[in-house]
Amino acid sequence: MNTLECIKTRRSIRKFTTDSVPKKDLEELIEIARWSPSYKNSQPWQAVIVSGEKKKALSKTLITLLENDTEDNSDLANPTSWPDMEKGNIKNLLTKRMELTGVDLGAPEMIFKAKKANFNFYFAPHAIYLYQDASLSEWSLFDIGIFAQSLMLAAHAKGLATVPQAFATLYSKEVKECLGIPLSNRLILGLSVGYPDMESPVNAYRTERMDSTDICKWLE
Ligand SMILES: Cc1cc2nc3c(=O)[nH]c(=O)nc-3n(C[C@H](O)[C@H](O)[C@H](O)COP(=O)(O)O)c2cc1C
Repeated sequence: MNTLECIKTRRSIRKFTTDSVPKKDLEELIEIARWSPSYKNSQPWQAVIVSGEKKKALSKTLITLLENDTEDNSDLANPTSWPDMEKGNIKNLLTKRMELTGVDLGAPEMIFKAKKANFNFYFAPHAIYLYQDASLSEWSLFDIGIFAQSLMLAAHAKGLATVPQAFATLYSKEVKECLGIPLSNRLILGLSVGYPDMESPVNAYRTERMDSTDICKWLE
């Protein structure tokens, strides 16, 4: 698969097969992603790959916190409002998903279900958490975002699937405690990783994008 095709065909997968990914293939994702660019080549990224019993224990912890209605403690602030353009794109996504599945993803019971599915890592055999020192600037958030994209593209190129999950960081403190990440670090993103179950209807929907002409203007 060439780079352009890889960027265009990567998509978030929310149902995985139960097959584990060989360790050498997971290692290769990090090996590729570490070539991402960063501010002054500071490389402000750290990763933990969690599988097996440890991942089960983490899911259990997160689901218990959710069921006990524990207040979340993400290291990154959750957005409470959006500007009009982004709000329109989000509404478009929710409307399309509702048309296809008949499910209103904005309803409180659906948000609960969505969080639970995220905490189960959509039954993927592996989760990868990305984190960095909490004293770093916003540029380092930018850098670790590039790292995450490199990792997802590397996975896709190798026939693996991923989904980036802000929800997986809702209880950052407990995730860090469970995974041995120092509390002086900020948890940026969780990603489920595995092989895509393309039979599942949840993986049937391909998200849309704004037209290039709505994003970019040309000046001469
Ligand atoms: C920073 C970030 C956080 C996200 N958080 C979640 C999440 O918590 N749960 C989830 O299912 N998808 C999450 N997504 C996936 C987005 O919903 C998805 O990327 C978007 O709808 C575009 O779809 P695509 O990835 O299939 O192209 C997140 C994506 C990003 C980049």
